Amino acid sequence: MWSTLITIFLTRLVFVNGFSYDNQTAWKKEHTKCKGNYQSPIRLDRKTAIIIGKVPEIAFLNYNTVIGGDRVDVLNNGNTIRISFDQVDNSKKPMVKDGPLGRDQFVMEDIHFHWGSFPTRGTEHKLDGVSYSLEAHLVHRNVKYESFEDAKGKENGIVVLAVPFKEKSEGVSTLSGVVNLLEKVKFTGNETTFHGNFVLDKMFYLKKEKLYFMYEGSLTTPVCDEKVLWIVYSKARCVLKSEMFKFRSLKRIDGEPLINNFRKPQKPNGRKVILVV
Ligand SMILES: *[C@@H]1O[C@H](CO)[C@@H](O)[C@H](O)[C@H]1NC(C)=O
Ligand SMILES: *[C@@H]1O[C@H](CO)[C@@H](O)[C@H](O)[C@H]1NC(C)=O
Repeated sequence: MWSTLITIFLTRLVFVNGFSYDNQTAWKKEHTKCKGNYQSPIRLDRKTAIIIGKVPEIAFLNYNTVIGGDRVDVLNNGNTIRISFDQVDNSKKPMVKDGPLGRDQFVMEDIHFHWGSFPTRGTEHKLDGVSYSLEAHLVHRNVKYESFEDAKGKENGIVVLAVPFKEKSEGVSTLSGVVNLLEKVKFTGNETTFHGNFVLDKMFYLKKEKLYFMYEGSLTTPVCDEKVLWIVYSKARCVLKSEMFKFRSLKRIDGEPLINNFRKPQKPNGRKVILVV
């Protein structure tokens, strides 16, 4: 009896910001911030971006550190697959700094994914007009704020690194570690941890990567807090068709396939988009 009630309660907690990708118009009605002038995602185009070279490299701290996988949580929250680092020792948490980020350090909050129902649908940012299957978001918060909640909407509060993945029949994918866990988090509310070791850099290889877009926007889910610095890598990585099949087999809270969990492009409203080369 109680266990049923508790399960319902926990499911609601997971689903606390209940929103649906089916009706994105509703977001703007229910959450004022989603109507802001600096929303994300947007279309990013080489031709119109301000091109800047000689930007110092971003420093990736602990991206190559071996983290005990049992500390890294993986959750199906009904809207995405979320990998969180709450249980990771502070000394091992991935962080970014330098490059365009200034003096502050930004610690990893979570990694989550947006994907579509077919290969040309899924990424939130359109790159030169193109969409791919999957976009990973590596969400970081400024360490000067106590928590993610605290950092939301604040000056220099949040930096998100976005990495697009293009679907291919064969090739080398770096996402197998995540994909292998998807069966265990098929349903909303299911949670698991990585087995063995977790090394972030083996999934994204960002260290040597230049070529990224940079602009100021918002979180792409309600309540859409702004003042988020976006760093969107322009080169798509490989995700296998068989892997995308597994992403698309995940379930929402209503039992429907968890697909097309991307927000539509928002108005740029004169924002500067920089392309770092
Ligand atoms: C979407 O949500 C808005 C606002 O809540 C509502 O007015 C509209 O009818 C909804 N559209 C659909 C197709 O459900
Ligand atoms: C996943 O969630 C489903 C539906 O709530 C539940 O029946 C199942 O036991 C869960 N599986 C695990 C491994 O927690």
